[in-house]
Amino acid sequence: MEAILTRRSVRKYNKKQLSDKIVKELLEAAMSAPSAGNEQPWHFIIIDKPQILSKIQTFHNHAKMLKDASITILVCGDLNLDNHNGMWIQDCSAATENILIAVRAKGLGAVWLGIYPREERIMGLRKLLNIPNNVMPFSLISIGHPAEKQGIVDRYNPSRIHKNKW
Ligand SMILES: Cc1cc2nc3c(=O)[nH]c(=O)nc-3n(C[C@H](O)[C@H](O)[C@H](O)COP(=O)(O)O)c2cc1C
Repeated sequence: MEAILTRRSVRKYNKKQLSDKIVKELLEAAMSAPSAGNEQPWHFIIIDKPQILSKIQTFHNHAKMLKDASITILVCGDLNLDNHNGMWIQDCSAATENILIAVRAKGLGAVWLGIYPREERIMGLRKLLNIPNNVMPFSLISIGHPAEKQGIVDRYNPSRIHKNKW
C-alpha cells in the first residue's frame, strides 16, 4: 500500500546508473502483471543510449525528462499474441503500472509517457527502434534516481464510488 499511495511522477533525476539487478527486478514486476487469458502479449525494449533518448523528444513533446533518465523502458504489445480482441492494451497498462510501483518501492523515480494511440509517437518509435509491424509501442517509462521530491496526494473520491447500481 505504501508504494501505491506514495507513487508520483518523477521527472527530474540524478545522473546515476541503475544496476542490471534492479532493471531485472523491474522487468520481473512487469511480467508478473495479469493479462487476458494469461497471454502475456508484451515485449520490453530497454533504452539507455542518450543519442536514442534525445531523438525521442523530436516526435514526443512531453518527453524532456528522458535526457536525464538512467534507463527508459518501452512497453510494447505483440498483436500476434493478442487473442482477446484488443485486451493487449489493458495487459500492457497493468505491466506499466507494476513497473511504476516497483520503481517507487525501490526508492527510485519514474514517469509514464503515453505512446499508444498517438500515431506520430508510434511511427517515430517504430522507425527509431526498428520495431516490426505486429508489435505496437505502448508506453515509455522514464526511470532514474529522483532529484525532486513529490508530495503525497490523497485522491480518494467517494463521489466516484457506486454500490450495487449507478
Ligand atoms: C497514459 C498516460 C500518459 C502520460 N503521458 C505523460 C507524458 O507524455 N509526459 C509526462 O510528463 N507525463 C505523462 N503522464 C503522467 C501524468 O501526467 C501523471 O500521472 C498525472 O499528472 C498524475 O500525477 P502523478 O503521476 O504524479 O500522480 C502520463 C500518464 C499516463 C497514465
